[in-house]
Amino acid sequence: MTIAELEFDPFSQEFFDGAYDLYARMREEAPVYYSEKYDFYALSRYTDVAAAYRDFSTYSSARGIDLATVRRGEVPPHRSIIVMDPPEHRHVRGIVSKVFTPRAIAELRPMASDQIDRFLSAVDPAGFDLVQDFSALFPIEIISRMLGVPEAERTQVRLWTDELLHREVGQIEMSEVGFNAVVEISRYYYALAKARRADPQDDMISRLVQAEIERDDDQPPTLSNMEIAMFAALLGGAGAETVAKLIGGAGVAFARFPDQWEKLQQDRSKIPDAVEELLRYESPNQYNVRYSMKDVRLHGVTIPAGKPVFLLLGSANRDPEAFPDAHVLDIDRDRSQVPSLAFGYGIHSCLGAALARLESSIALNRLLDFMPRFEVDLDRCTRVTMQNVAGYNNVPVRVLR
Ligand code: HEM
Repeated sequence: MTIAELEFDPFSQEFFDGAYDLYARMREEAPVYYSEKYDFYALSRYTDVAAAYRDFSTYSSARGIDLATVRRGEVPPHRSIIVMDPPEHRHVRGIVSKVFTPRAIAELRPMASDQIDRFLSAVDPAGFDLVQDFSALFPIEIISRMLGVPEAERTQVRLWTDELLHREVGQIEMSEVGFNAVVEISRYYYALAKARRADPQDDMISRLVQAEIERDDDQPPTLSNMEIAMFAALLGGAGAETVAKLIGGAGVAFARFPDQWEKLQQDRSKIPDAVEELLRYESPNQYNVRYSMKDVRLHGVTIPAGKPVFLLLGSANRDPEAFPDAHVLDIDRDRSQVPSLAFGYGIHSCLGAALARLESSIALNRLLDFMPRFEVDLDRCTRVTMQNVAGYNNVPVRVLR
């Protein structure tokens, strides 16, 4: 028997379908994987991925966090917080954190609950698509409302967000449609920031316009309209697609582990634990790419300076060295020792984690009422073909009586 050659291709159908077997081989056989096809490196073991997320001076974000942009090796002139290094990142994170406070997120609960109820009450229990009819709809609606996008423009914002993230199998670069969507959405949020600066409302864009930090240099203490536009445009992708994938994937995960659904039915106080376990198990954000700033020697391999390096948190979160029985969904798992990397780690760790947890907990609670017993047509489930984000595009569900 010959052992198949180890090939990790983040634009292949094999990857989009969930590359967990491949990850296991990478952790074992090539913990510092090199792709000849694309000329990148990839880290897959929990300890290596966590360490790399923390080491921002070696693994830079400023040239992008997806392969297409990182391999250009250029620092773009206008960029959002997620593609900044310190000190710029510290400055912007300081300002946006003033607006993204735990209290501000908690205040979104009634609005988030209303939207989740609204979308769930519209679906047909006899047959619906958990993603297309539910989980793809409410997160972007909640973010758009939070930012202050008027109702008439919310559908357009959602379509642009879809377009800018979409990739076909084998497609690395953004398509023209995707590129236009980035331009349009940035333009849109720029105009909205300008309007809110002139006439503030009770929304997050207005608060971002006003937010200020103390500085001991000559940089401005506030964000410009362009910086706000880049931040708002990022939230659609970072905050909507991820929650959509987490909840869509939850349907499949609980169909595979029905005892866990039953446990939740018995004890709803376990919902926050279930959300954490789903985050680990699904890892909606499978990886982020970095740019190596210097030569790195690891496990006998040298990663030269100036290369894209994939930090495969989807693999780290299934590493049995960190999580015993890593392929089992276990909502009672002891998480006190090892944090999951689903929200990243270090300076870029997810700014919207509290909002993601809030929305996901509400959604799970409602689904427990709506579909106490259900079945998923696993043969008709399809997966998205995106960069960074992985998960289901279609999850056909039937509620059982
Ligand atoms: C299940 C849901 C989510 C997952 C799995 C997730 C995952 C992540 C990960 C892995 C990162 C780190 C990226 C890196 O290091 O390059 C990140 C950063 C970020 N996320 Fe999330 N996210 C989720 C939801 C949200 C939500 C709801 C929002 C906001 C509305 C949000 C906003 C952000 C922002 C702004 C950053 C950049 C932070 C920085 O660069 O300092 N995310 N997220």
